[in-house]
Amino acid sequence: MKTVFSGIQPSGTLTLGNYLGAMKHFVNMQDDYNCFFCIVDQHAITVPQDKAQLRQNIKSLAALYIAAGIDHEKSTLFIQSEVPAHAQLGWLMQCVSYIGELERMTQFKDKSEGKEAVSSALLTYPPLMAADILLYKTDIVPVGEDQKQHLELTRDLAERFNKKYNDIFTIPEVQIPKVGARIMSLNDPMKKMSKSNPNPKSYISMLDDEKTIIKKMKSAVTDSDNSVHYDKENKPAIANLMSIYSLCSGKSYDEITALYEGKGYGQFKEDLAQIVAETLNPIRERYEELIHSTELDEILDRGAEKANHVATKMLTKAERAMGLGRKK
Ligand code: TYM
Repeated sequence: MKTVFSGIQPSGTLTLGNYLGAMKHFVNMQDDYNCFFCIVDQHAITVPQDKAQLRQNIKSLAALYIAAGIDHEKSTLFIQSEVPAHAQLGWLMQCVSYIGELERMTQFKDKSEGKEAVSSALLTYPPLMAADILLYKTDIVPVGEDQKQHLELTRDLAERFNKKYNDIFTIPEVQIPKVGARIMSLNDPMKKMSKSNPNPKSYISMLDDEKTIIKKMKSAVTDSDNSVHYDKENKPAIANLMSIYSLCSGKSYDEITALYEGKGYGQFKEDLAQIVAETLNPIRERYEELIHSTELDEILDRGAEKANHVATKMLTKAERAMGLGRKK
């Protein structure tokens, strides 16, 4: 059975973009793959975090994973900082990375641009991400479009390591969904929907209730003519809303266009709000049950144990390949 690994940062409310671009696919992969899903808290501290808030976000993300359908009987769900091999292999991967290639990462450029003081960890974030993936002999990494460049670097680093030291790492394939790989902001279809956007009207949180979803959808920007059809170049706002509609309802773009022929944007946005609410309501309800339960801690304890078992073996292999310690 092939192995899948993916991670999400506990850095705030998860958005509908995180769900449609990543989490929804994780859930669908559980029956066919040996899956590891990680709460990457060490990645989150590359930018300043309030410690109480971070602790809460970690638990909240764990509950969301399960509420969305991650089944701990099928998949290993764990917190990155509870498996020390991640940071340890991260260091080795830094030693095979070049500063130049890290400086070329668009996410680093975006996050550091115009800032006076950025942590060095923001630059060395991708080698840690490579370590996350390589520890588990990962075959497939399901992610949204924004992580593609990091995945390409992961493959480069793994190949470089294998060539230079010993052929120990599996070279992972990236898997990006055909629809929904980049869900855009509701108030600006040129920007990615993101939890770090200060304007909550720009995104739908996975925990927004029906009333909030309706309000946000109503204020979502649209394009100039009043016709619902998919044209990413000329009608980016409607194309974005149609991709959300399609992913939440299972309907194709042609079916959606036929449904709203002559009806205009008002009805379309009203129905879309309803469809999104129907998708998120059961997740929110299950989340409320889980967030204060002891079940969550038990699942995370077991996940850390399983992940530690696998990860430690690969770390030892990598250390020996590089000549660290005394044993061959
Ligand atoms: P993060 O926490 O920013 O996002 C988690 C996942 O959600 C996807 N995503 C989106 N997909 C579609 N539309 C959007 N608007 C949108 N916003 C986010 C992301 O592509 C991602 O799949 N560096 C990673 C976390 C990470 C990781 C890993 C991922 C650390 N180690 C190892 C895979 C494997 C990140 O910051 O994701």
